[in-house]
Amino acid sequence: MRVTVSRKAHFNAAHRLYRKDWSFEQNETVFGKCNNPNYHGHNYELIVSVTGEVDKDTGYVIDMKILKDIIKNEVEDAFDHKNLNEQVPEFENLNPTAEHIAVVIYNKMKPKLSAALDLEITLYETPRNFVTYSGS
Ligand code: NI
Repeated sequence: MRVTVSRKAHFNAAHRLYRKDWSFEQNETVFGKCNNPNYHGHNYELIVSVTGEVDKDTGYVIDMKILKDIIKNEVEDAFDHKNLNEQVPEFENLNPTAEHIAVVIYNKMKPKLSAALDLEITLYETPRNFVTYSGS
């Protein structure tokens, strides 16, 4: 039997949505307030879901302590209280939209999990706006 287990986490981070290869006016038209050169912050809420077979011996899909540590090492330590554009290498040339942040989180976490486990990342940028990525 395959079961999905999930863990919530959060981080605070600043970003600016813009493309270096577009003019300021073009960025302003597309990204509006999010193109503020002085950056702005979000309280990101994260839900990490792992799906896999329940181990016959332990009864676990994954030990939640292990999942907690992967989230801490790959997401919280890397992103919390950071300026994503300036301080996180993955966004040096990648616009830090919620979509891209979810993909980066997935790509950082997936190799840390057993290959038999499926991963889904849900990222809330605001209480009402959220994105989901599961590797396809
Ligand atoms: Ni924003």
